Amino acid sequence: MYRSVFQPGLFKDQLIIVTGGGSGIGRCTAHELAALGATVALVGRDPDKLARVCGEIAAVGGVAQAWPCNIRDEAAVQALVAAIVAAHGRIDGLVNNAGGQFPAPLKDISLKGWEAVLQTNLTGGFLMARECLNQAMQARGGAVVNIVADMWGGMPNMGHSGAARAGMVNFTETAAFEWAQYGVRVNAVAPGYVASSGMDAYPPSMKQTILAFPQTVPLKRFGTEAEISAAIVFLLSEAAAFITGTTLRVDGGRPNVRPGMPMPALRNPNTPFDGFHLAQTPRVLRED
Ligand code: ADE
Repeated sequence: MYRSVFQPGLFKDQLIIVTGGGSGIGRCTAHELAALGATVALVGRDPDKLARVCGEIAAVGGVAQAWPCNIRDEAAVQALVAAIVAAHGRIDGLVNNAGGQFPAPLKDISLKGWEAVLQTNLTGGFLMARECLNQAMQARGGAVVNIVADMWGGMPNMGHSGAARAGMVNFTETAAFEWAQYGVRVNAVAPGYVASSGMDAYPPSMKQTILAFPQTVPLKRFGTEAEISAAIVFLLSEAAAFITGTTLRVDGGRPNVRPGMPMPALRNPNTPFDGFHLAQTPRVLRED
């Protein structure tokens, strides 16, 4: 069973959508939410991956359903949210986690590539949130958590993704203001370097760069999927009832490093929290 730090039954009777739920942080969050009593609607493009995660969750006594959908497709998103509302009569939470990008310097990014990344990481999240608001949350409130990235000060070799994620932070702020009247809170979580399957999108040539990432982090390690999930779960929960419009960084302090300021060595270990026994080590961090 998931070793959540949160109270059992916290999300009992709630329907929570997790996009990008077939792997990585989305999969981990779906496991934690289900362990806390939520019915989880897993959204993603690959039905097989969604079905596998639903099976994992069912095997440990949770409830999750697969809802395959391309979040870039407005009509498909509208139909998806209508179908979830028809099936459950409610949407209490949305975790806008689906994302994807490819490493490239700005000068080499085609219009097609740029637009694809913007559509997945910005437009798709907007469409999902807008439909959840209009079709469900407007009537009875809810919480949205947008997953962005550590793109503060720029995101070299990921400029399209950085622009999209920064856009999502600003969308979070506007939606928090506009939707507060409906009892809908909108926040974001900005993960830093996390040991998750998302890392497998990087080419093998980046292995040495990736392995050196922890040296640039004051807490000197990768984060775990469970540490991101815990932040998401907190923002969805009633413990965050007065929090809206914020972006919660979960990054070991990486953006606080200053050029020219030597980084102190760790004196005491900083122990990762891993409540997720099913987490998979990304290829690049495996020994083989
Ligand atoms: N995950 C990554 N890209 C996605 C998309 N376009 N739709 C749904 N899930 C996704």
